[in-house]
Amino acid sequence: MASLVPYLEHPISAPVRQSSPAPPRSPRRPPFTPLPDVGRTVAYLACGLGHYTAILASLGAESVHGYDISPKMIEAAKAAYPSSSYANLHFDVADCSAPENLPTPTDPFDVVFAGWFLNYAGTEKELTSMFGVIAQNLRKDGRFVGVTTNAHDPWMVEDKKDFYGLDVDVLDKDYVAPDTGREVNFLGVEPIKAIADPYKVGIKARVTVHSEPPFAFDVFQFRHEVYERCAQAANLRLRWRPHVLPDDKRKDTPYWTEWVRRPTFSILEATLL
Ligand SMILES: C[S@@+](CC[C@H](N)C(=O)[O-])C[C@H]1O[C@@H](n2cnc3c(N)ncnc32)[C@H](O)[C@@H]1O
Repeated sequence: MASLVPYLEHPISAPVRQSSPAPPRSPRRPPFTPLPDVGRTVAYLACGLGHYTAILASLGAESVHGYDISPKMIEAAKAAYPSSSYANLHFDVADCSAPENLPTPTDPFDVVFAGWFLNYAGTEKELTSMFGVIAQNLRKDGRFVGVTTNAHDPWMVEDKKDFYGLDVDVLDKDYVAPDTGREVNFLGVEPIKAIADPYKVGIKARVTVHSEPPFAFDVFQFRHEVYERCAQAANLRLRWRPHVLPDDKRKDTPYWTEWVRRPTFSILEATLL
């Protein structure tokens, strides 16, 4: 499935845990390449204001069910996409971090999507539990597609300043998941303490978006091994997907050079084992 690949038009997304939701936006250019196989039914975890639920429907999904932990977000999504006009969009408040928080679907989804959600897991237990939600909601041959913080950035311990409209300040470059106390290197063996920081589980960072007014939110940036381990524990096979640059006049210029060196996000896909 090479289709659910975000363009880099919007390398950042809305803030998490913002105090009040931004006004609903009307659907505009999708951040995805066209989806020949978007799936008949889609669950969107951490759907925020619901913008991409509408886009997924416009790309071919028969129904999209958005869940978000924030009642304000869901209220705004329902206001923007009322059932009277959008009968195929459904929104519910739900904490998607644990399977028991969502109803066990009698008819699991073709696609589960989560943009900027997994990066809120601060422990392996939490990340495994989030993957458990995904596994619980996936049809046997369905697929999960997610966007999360860059799991492959060897320089993740270094701040990013004025980086395509945002700052990323590293709050904890020696982050060790408190539940396992584990630091792993690329091979998944015990770390050698003297080894450089990039070999740690990941970092905790504060992202500040240069909007008007600016806003900031905190994320975890775990290494890919952590994702792979947690996905497997939740009965999922995980694959990483490539980035695709927008096909516009910036493509053959140095515009994206730094972004490509240290992309802001990773794209992952998973299926049930
Ligand atoms: C950065 S926003 C992304 C919103 C949307 N996915 C997008 O890309 O526009 C993160 C969203 O995750 C939601 N969120 C955070 N923790 C959550 C949880 N445990 N369960 C469900 N939603 C959660 C927040 O309320 C917020 O709407």
